[in-house]
Amino acid sequence: MSIMSIISFMKRPFIVVPFIFILPIVFMIVLAYFLDKKHNFEPGGETFYMNYCSGCHGKKGNGRGITARVKKLKATPNFTQPSYWQGKTDEYILSVIKNGRDKMPSFEKFIMEPDQLEVLAYIKKKFKPKSVED
Ligand code: HEC
Repeated sequence: MSIMSIISFMKRPFIVVPFIFILPIVFMIVLAYFLDKKHNFEPGGETFYMNYCSGCHGKKGNGRGITARVKKLKATPNFTQPSYWQGKTDEYILSVIKNGRDKMPSFEKFIMEPDQLEVLAYIKKKFKPKSVED
């Protein structure tokens, strides 16, 4: 393919414009659709949980994260156990995220309020057993 033929191709905006502008947009919409199907919770909550919480609470929410094991933080709760959720209100859990509790540090300065809500939604959606009533 010679330079001239590339240039003459580029001079045909009806062909080039869709390639440059429309295809990436279509691609992103399709990608967003599939990502959204995989995660039907707010994706931000997962990112915050993985970055700030999973070290202690574990990727599976069972309280066996690497930091919890190394520091022997035995009190780290298991979110996947129905008994954990007895009498736990959203307000109470949010207050723990904000202020910390015993060996758990406060996250008020690291996670802003709207994101705290997303982390809470993530924990409930992902780890809270379906058998537990709200
Ligand atoms: C350094 C380890 C550590 C990190 C990081 C950590 N936690 Fe904790 N978390 C703990 C420990 C230990 C406890 C048990 C505290 C106690 O003694 O009651 C706990 C308790 C909790 C509880 C249960 C409180 C209760 O009484 O029911 C919730 C909910 C919680 N953490 C959420 C989070 C969230 C959300 C994050 C991330 C933003 C997080 N934790 C990060 C160590 C950690």
